[in-house]
Amino acid sequence: MHILIILGSPRKNGNSETLARSVAIGIQEIPDTTVDFIRLNDLRISPCQGCGGCNKTSTCVIEDDMTALYEKVDLCDHLILVSPIYFYGLSAQCKTFVDRFQARWARKYLSGIRFRNNEQRQGILLATAATEGKKVFDGALLTARTLFDALDLECGESLLVRGVDQRGAIQTQAQYLKQAITMGRELATGKH
Ligand SMILES: Cc1cc2nc3c(=O)[nH]c(=O)nc-3n(C[C@H](O)[C@H](O)[C@H](O)COP(=O)(O)O)c2cc1C
Repeated sequence: MHILIILGSPRKNGNSETLARSVAIGIQEIPDTTVDFIRLNDLRISPCQGCGGCNKTSTCVIEDDMTALYEKVDLCDHLILVSPIYFYGLSAQCKTFVDRFQARWARKYLSGIRFRNNEQRQGILLATAATEGKKVFDGALLTARTLFDALDLECGESLLVRGVDQRGAIQTQAQYLKQAITMGRELATGKH
């Protein structure tokens, strides 16, 4: 089993990344499982231009670091999208990544091609926010769900942590880090 983790924060070793690293600890406890981390902030990914090119070909016309990511996403068994909440939504790095999957939306909904949709592959959102707002994750969740649908991934249970702001704040939230390790273990054993 191969799990792809997409880190969407520009802050290295920040709260969302720490949460993701804990999920990876759980995944790696299980034999024959591999984890790959992609840090979006290190890549050059242009925003979708809305050109409509993918409507005809199901392929994005832009060639940049996203080109290799399409295949990595196609090949993974589960996809974990990791983001801090910025203005009640995903980080810009994540949103740019998500929008480029318009090519996959076109493949599914315009070309009618379903992709590995009978394998119970999951998409999962991990997110952290500074505030305790009731709706603070709503925007990110809606975007993530729409992405997972376009990719023919089942939307798995997300892990969302409120009230963590400064880098390292999540270290004081031991229960969430523990929950993240359990999530990784369960994901890798098909129990999540
Ligand atoms: C540009 C920006 C916008 C933010 N907007 C929100 C917000 O709308 N609601 C919130 O609760 N926290 C907000 N935050 C705080 C981050 O979500 C929070 O610090 C998060 O834990 C950072 O995760 P990271 O360490 O992985 O980057 C914002 C932070 C930044 C830098």
